[in-house]
Amino acid sequence: MSKLDNTFGQQTVSQNERSKKIRRVFQLVAPRYDLMNDFMSFGTHRIWKRFFVNYIPFKSTDIIVDLAGGTGDIARKLTRKGANVIVVDPSIEMMQAGKNSNSHPVLNIAAIGEKLPFADSSIDKLTISFGIRNMTSMSEALKEIHRILKPGGQYYCLEFSRPMMPIRPFYNLYNQYVIPRLGAMVARQPEAYQYLIESIKRFPHQEEMKSLIEDAGFSKVTYRNLFFGIACIHIGTNES
Ligand SMILES: C[S@@+](CC[C@H](N)C(=O)[O-])C[C@H]1O[C@@H](n2cnc3c(N)ncnc32)[C@H](O)[C@@H]1O
Repeated sequence: MSKLDNTFGQQTVSQNERSKKIRRVFQLVAPRYDLMNDFMSFGTHRIWKRFFVNYIPFKSTDIIVDLAGGTGDIARKLTRKGANVIVVDPSIEMMQAGKNSNSHPVLNIAAIGEKLPFADSSIDKLTISFGIRNMTSMSEALKEIHRILKPGGQYYCLEFSRPMMPIRPFYNLYNQYVIPRLGAMVARQPEAYQYLIESIKRFPHQEEMKSLIEDAGFSKVTYRNLFFGIACIHIGTNES
């Protein structure tokens, strides 16, 4: 179990409670999620996501699952490049909020990462962007992802991580003081954004994340830092 699995913000809660509270956060932020992302990251999340999508090689026959796909940002970018993408997310509100901007057909499925509605070894690639830290159990979700990937299938994860010194203190101050205020002003949900910040702060750093992915059975696990490690892409292969 990861150190995040039983926490919600600074509280210790049961997994069931954590899952309900996370659901509620995304229900609340859904209508303004994309706008808020632009504000919080000064638009850099778009650069990271573009970079992430360009990092993923695929064949036109590949089935890609975008887990915790939310408003469909990654799915949209992938389908524009000709990929077949299925978005999986428990929040109907988030998927609904992205519906109007999905000009390409994307199948949306309401489900959680810890119990994926796919057969063993049936999926070519699985992407997850800013979603893995919201899982009720990160280790269970990683095992599920490993289960559904075909032999040779790959896992691609884009997530906040631990920035390098000397920018770390500035980044921490920005997260602590600016983001909750932006959350209050733009998304009008300060508590929800407080949760998001806590989940970023407690999230495993680059090497810890690599070990968690390996523990779930993945091989050839590598990572690439973006913007001095503020974000990071982890890649793992199912070699079983
Ligand atoms: C920060 S958003 C990221 C959305 C999108 N991937 C992006 O990059 O903009 C996190 C998403 O994780 C979803 N989520 C929360 N708990 C989940 C779980 N247990 N399994 C799968 N997705 C979950 C939320 O509903 C939300 O849409």
